[in-house]
Amino acid sequence: MNTLAHATGMPGRPFEAPVLLKEGTRLLEPDVYRALIRGQLAVIKDYSRYRRTPLAPLARLLVRREARALGRLRGWAHAPMLLGIVGGLSLAMEFVPGEPLGAQRRPSEETFRQLRGAVAHLHANGITHNDLHPANVMVNGDRVVLLDFASALRVPRWMRHAPVLRELRRSDLANAIKIERRLTGRTPGQFVSQVLADPRWVTAVRDGWKRFYRGFKATFGH
Ligand SMILES: Nc1ncnc2c1ncn2[C@@H]1O[C@H](COP(=O)(O)OP(=O)(O)O)[C@@H](O)[C@H]1O
Ligand SMILES: [Mg+2]
Repeated sequence: MNTLAHATGMPGRPFEAPVLLKEGTRLLEPDVYRALIRGQLAVIKDYSRYRRTPLAPLARLLVRREARALGRLRGWAHAPMLLGIVGGLSLAMEFVPGEPLGAQRRPSEETFRQLRGAVAHLHANGITHNDLHPANVMVNGDRVVLLDFASALRVPRWMRHAPVLRELRRSDLANAIKIERRLTGRTPGQFVSQVLADPRWVTAVRDGWKRFYRGFKATFGH
Protein backbone atom coordinates (compact mmCIF):
# COMPACT_ATOMS: atom_id res chain seq x y z
CA MET A 1 0.00 0.00 0.00
CA ASN A 2 2.94 2.23 0.54
CA THR A 3 3.27 3.35 -3.06
CA LEU A 4 3.37 6.67 -4.82
CA ALA A 5 0.00 5.98 -6.49
CA HIS A 6 -1.51 5.19 -3.11
CA ALA A 7 -0.06 8.29 -1.51
CA THR A 8 -1.18 10.67 -4.23
CA GLY A 9 -4.80 9.51 -4.57
CA MET A 10 -6.96 9.90 -1.48
CA PRO A 11 -10.46 8.51 -1.53
CA GLY A 12 -13.10 11.20 -1.44
CA ARG A 13 -10.65 13.95 -2.34
CA PRO A 14 -10.24 15.65 -5.71
CA PHE A 15 -7.47 13.73 -7.45
CA GLU A 16 -4.85 15.70 -9.25
CA ALA A 17 -2.73 13.65 -11.61
CA PRO A 18 0.94 14.13 -10.79
CA VAL A 19 2.53 16.93 -12.82
CA LEU A 20 6.13 16.38 -13.89
CA LEU A 21 8.23 19.36 -12.75
CA LYS A 22 11.61 18.00 -13.78
CA GLU A 23 12.62 14.80 -15.48
CA GLY A 24 15.65 13.05 -14.06
CA THR A 25 18.04 12.67 -16.95
CA ARG A 26 21.46 12.49 -15.33
CA LEU A 27 22.74 9.67 -13.19
CA LEU A 28 20.87 9.41 -9.87
CA GLU A 29 18.73 12.44 -10.63
CA PRO A 30 15.12 11.95 -9.55
CA ASP A 31 11.95 12.63 -11.52
CA VAL A 32 10.30 15.49 -9.65
CA TYR A 33 6.50 15.65 -9.54
CA ARG A 34 3.86 17.87 -8.06
CA ALA A 35 0.99 15.83 -6.69
CA LEU A 36 -1.84 16.03 -4.23
CA ILE A 37 -1.20 14.17 -0.98
CA ARG A 38 -4.01 14.12 1.58
CA GLY A 39 -5.50 17.16 -0.11
CA GLN A 40 -2.24 19.11 0.11
CA LEU A 41 -0.01 20.00 -2.85
CA ALA A 42 3.27 18.19 -2.46
CA VAL A 43 6.47 17.64 -4.35
CA ILE A 44 7.71 14.10 -4.85
CA LYS A 45 11.30 13.36 -5.72
CA ASP A 46 11.01 9.96 -7.28
CA TYR A 47 13.96 7.61 -7.80
CA SER A 48 11.79 4.55 -8.45
CA ARG A 49 13.27 4.02 -11.91
CA TYR A 50 16.27 2.63 -10.02
CA ARG A 51 14.19 -0.06 -8.30
CA ARG A 52 15.75 -3.48 -8.86
CA THR A 53 18.93 -1.96 -10.31
CA PRO A 54 22.40 -2.00 -8.74
CA LEU A 55 21.96 1.71 -7.96
CA ALA A 56 18.82 1.21 -5.84
CA PRO A 57 20.76 1.28 -2.52
CA LEU A 58 22.40 4.57 -3.50
CA ALA A 59 19.06 6.06 -4.53
CA ARG A 60 17.55 4.99 -1.17
CA LEU A 61 20.48 6.57 0.58
CA LEU A 62 19.91 9.86 -1.27
CA VAL A 63 16.23 9.80 -0.30
CA ARG A 64 17.06 9.10 3.35
CA ARG A 65 19.78 11.74 3.49
CA GLU A 66 17.53 14.45 2.07
CA ALA A 67 14.67 13.37 4.35
CA ARG A 68 16.99 13.57 7.36
CA ALA A 69 18.17 17.06 6.40
CA LEU A 70 14.60 18.29 5.87
CA GLY A 71 13.53 16.60 9.11
CA ARG A 72 16.19 18.52 11.02
CA LEU A 73 15.03 21.76 9.44
CA ARG A 74 11.35 21.16 10.18
CA GLY A 75 9.67 24.39 11.24
CA TRP A 76 12.26 26.57 9.53
CA ALA A 77 10.69 28.90 6.95
CA HIS A 78 13.56 28.55 4.46
CA ALA A 79 13.24 24.83 3.71
CA PRO A 80 10.20 22.88 2.46
CA MET A 81 8.41 20.88 5.13
CA LEU A 82 9.16 17.16 5.00
CA LEU A 83 6.09 14.97 4.43
CA GLY A 84 7.87 11.62 4.40
CA ILE A 85 9.43 8.80 2.44
CA VAL A 86 7.16 6.80 0.15
CA GLY A 87 8.16 3.24 -0.69
CA GLY A 88 11.85 3.84 0.06
CA LEU A 89 12.64 5.48 -3.26
CA SER A 90 10.47 8.63 -3.18
CA LEU A 91 10.63 11.66 -0.96
CA ALA A 92 7.54 13.81 -0.36
CA MET A 93 7.69 17.39 0.83
CA GLU A 94 5.64 20.58 0.91
CA PHE A 95 5.09 22.15 -2.52
CA VAL A 96 6.46 25.69 -2.43
CA PRO A 97 4.59 27.83 -4.94
CA GLY A 98 6.41 30.67 -6.62
CA GLU A 99 9.30 31.00 -8.99
CA PRO A 100 12.87 29.74 -8.92
CA LEU A 101 15.23 32.62 -8.20
CA GLY A 102 16.87 32.08 -11.60
CA ALA A 103 13.56 32.82 -13.35
CA GLN A 104 12.96 36.12 -11.56
CA ARG A 105 13.46 39.22 -13.64
CA ARG A 106 14.27 41.62 -10.83
CA PRO A 107 14.86 39.83 -7.56
CA SER A 108 14.59 42.20 -4.61
CA GLU A 109 17.31 43.12 -2.14
CA GLU A 110 15.21 41.38 0.51
CA THR A 111 15.45 38.13 -1.48
CA PHE A 112 19.25 38.24 -1.41
CA ARG A 113 19.26 39.25 2.25
CA GLN A 114 17.13 36.21 3.07
CA LEU A 115 19.32 33.96 0.93
CA ARG A 116 22.48 35.07 2.77
CA GLY A 117 20.69 34.76 6.10
CA ALA A 118 19.45 31.26 5.25
CA VAL A 119 22.97 30.09 4.34
CA ALA A 120 24.35 31.62 7.55
CA HIS A 121 21.65 29.86 9.59
CA LEU A 122 22.46 26.49 8.02
CA HIS A 123 26.16 26.96 8.71
CA ALA A 124 25.54 28.04 12.28
CA ASN A 125 23.69 24.74 12.73
CA GLY A 126 26.52 22.68 11.28
CA ILE A 127 24.82 22.08 7.91
CA THR A 128 26.21 22.84 4.47
CA HIS A 129 23.91 22.81 1.44
CA ASN A 130 26.58 22.03 -1.20
CA ASP A 131 24.40 22.64 -4.26
CA LEU A 132 23.33 26.26 -4.19
CA HIS A 133 22.33 27.60 -7.59
CA PRO A 134 19.40 29.70 -8.86
CA ALA A 135 17.16 26.69 -9.66
CA ASN A 136 17.51 25.42 -6.09
CA VAL A 137 16.21 28.65 -4.53
CA MET A 138 12.46 29.24 -4.64
CA VAL A 139 10.96 32.69 -4.16
CA ASN A 140 7.40 32.65 -2.91
CA GLY A 141 6.33 36.27 -2.40
CA ASP A 142 8.63 37.41 0.37
CA ARG A 143 9.58 33.90 1.47
CA VAL A 144 12.85 32.50 0.14
CA VAL A 145 13.09 28.72 0.30
CA LEU A 146 16.18 26.61 -0.31
CA LEU A 147 15.47 23.37 -2.17
CA ASP A 148 17.39 20.22 -2.97
CA PHE A 149 19.12 19.08 0.22
CA ALA A 150 20.26 15.84 -1.48
CA SER A 151 23.92 16.92 -1.20
CA ALA A 152 23.62 18.62 2.18
CA LEU A 153 25.96 17.55 4.96
CA ARG A 154 25.63 17.89 8.71
CA VAL A 155 28.53 17.20 10.98
CA PRO A 156 28.84 17.00 14.76
CA ARG A 157 30.02 20.10 16.57
CA TRP A 158 33.57 18.80 17.19
CA MET A 159 34.17 18.41 13.43
CA ARG A 160 32.99 21.84 12.40
CA HIS A 161 36.45 23.40 12.27
CA ALA A 162 37.88 20.75 9.94
CA PRO A 163 39.38 22.35 6.79
CA VAL A 164 37.07 20.37 4.50
CA LEU A 165 34.03 21.76 6.28
CA ARG A 166 35.37 25.26 6.24
CA GLU A 167 35.79 24.76 2.50
CA LEU A 168 32.21 23.53 2.07
CA ARG A 169 30.93 26.61 3.94
CA ARG A 170 33.13 28.88 1.85
CA SER A 171 31.85 27.21 -1.29
CA ASP A 172 28.18 27.72 -0.21
CA LEU A 173 28.90 31.40 0.41
CA ALA A 174 30.73 31.71 -2.91
CA ASN A 175 27.71 30.19 -4.66
CA ALA A 176 25.27 32.55 -2.90
CA ILE A 177 27.38 35.52 -3.96
CA LYS A 178 27.76 34.14 -7.49
CA ILE A 179 23.97 33.95 -7.76
CA GLU A 180 23.67 37.53 -6.56
CA ARG A 181 26.35 38.71 -9.00
CA ARG A 182 24.73 36.90 -11.92
CA LEU A 183 21.28 38.27 -11.23
CA THR A 184 22.22 41.84 -10.31
CA GLY A 185 25.45 42.40 -12.23
CA ARG A 186 27.03 43.62 -8.97
CA THR A 187 30.61 42.56 -8.40
CA PRO A 188 31.84 41.79 -4.90
CA GLY A 189 34.70 43.88 -3.49
CA GLN A 190 38.28 42.64 -3.80
CA PHE A 191 38.44 41.38 -0.22
CA VAL A 192 35.31 39.28 -0.65
CA SER A 193 36.61 37.95 -3.97
CA GLN A 194 39.87 36.85 -2.32
CA VAL A 195 38.07 35.11 0.53
CA LEU A 196 35.82 33.34 -1.94
CA ALA A 197 38.47 32.22 -4.44
CA ASP A 198 39.03 28.45 -4.55
CA PRO A 199 42.18 27.36 -2.68
CA ARG A 200 44.45 25.26 -4.92
CA TRP A 201 43.88 21.99 -3.03
CA VAL A 202 40.15 22.41 -3.55
CA THR A 203 40.56 22.64 -7.31
CA ALA A 204 42.68 19.46 -7.23
CA VAL A 205 40.12 17.53 -5.15
CA ARG A 206 37.26 18.75 -7.33
CA ASP A 207 39.03 17.73 -10.55
CA GLY A 208 39.77 14.31 -9.02
CA TRP A 209 36.10 13.90 -8.06
CA LYS A 210 34.96 14.88 -11.57
CA ARG A 211 37.25 12.24 -13.07
CA PHE A 212 35.89 9.62 -10.63
CA TYR A 213 32.29 10.62 -11.40
CA ARG A 214 32.86 10.36 -15.14
CA GLY A 215 34.34 6.86 -14.73
CA PHE A 216 31.45 5.86 -12.44
CA LYS A 217 28.92 7.14 -14.95
CA ALA A 218 30.62 5.33 -17.81
CA THR A 219 30.33 2.09 -15.78
CA PHE A 220 26.79 2.42 -14.37
CA GLY A 221 25.19 5.19 -16.46
CA HIS A 222 22.13 4.51 -18.48
N1 LIG B 1 9.36 21.73 -2.61
C1 LIG B 1 9.29 22.21 -3.84
N2 LIG B 1 8.35 23.13 -4.18
C2 LIG B 1 8.28 23.59 -5.45
N3 LIG B 1 9.09 23.22 -6.46
C3 LIG B 1 10.04 22.32 -6.19
C4 LIG B 1 10.20 21.76 -4.87
N4 LIG B 1 11.21 20.87 -4.91
C5 LIG B 1 11.67 20.88 -6.16
N5 LIG B 1 10.97 21.74 -6.93
C6 LIG B 1 11.21 22.03 -8.37
O1 LIG B 1 11.79 20.89 -8.97
C7 LIG B 1 13.12 21.18 -9.41
C8 LIG B 1 14.02 20.00 -9.16
O2 LIG B 1 14.04 19.67 -7.78
P1 LIG B 1 15.41 19.43 -7.02
O3 LIG B 1 15.10 19.12 -5.59
O4 LIG B 1 16.30 20.59 -7.26
O5 LIG B 1 15.94 18.12 -7.74
P2 LIG B 1 17.30 17.80 -8.48
O6 LIG B 1 18.10 17.08 -7.44
O7 LIG B 1 16.93 16.93 -9.63
O8 LIG B 1 17.94 19.10 -8.92
C9 LIG B 1 13.53 22.43 -8.63
O9 LIG B 1 14.50 23.16 -9.32
C10 LIG B 1 12.20 23.16 -8.52
O10 LIG B 1 11.91 23.86 -9.70
MG1 LIG C 1 18.18 20.90 -8.02
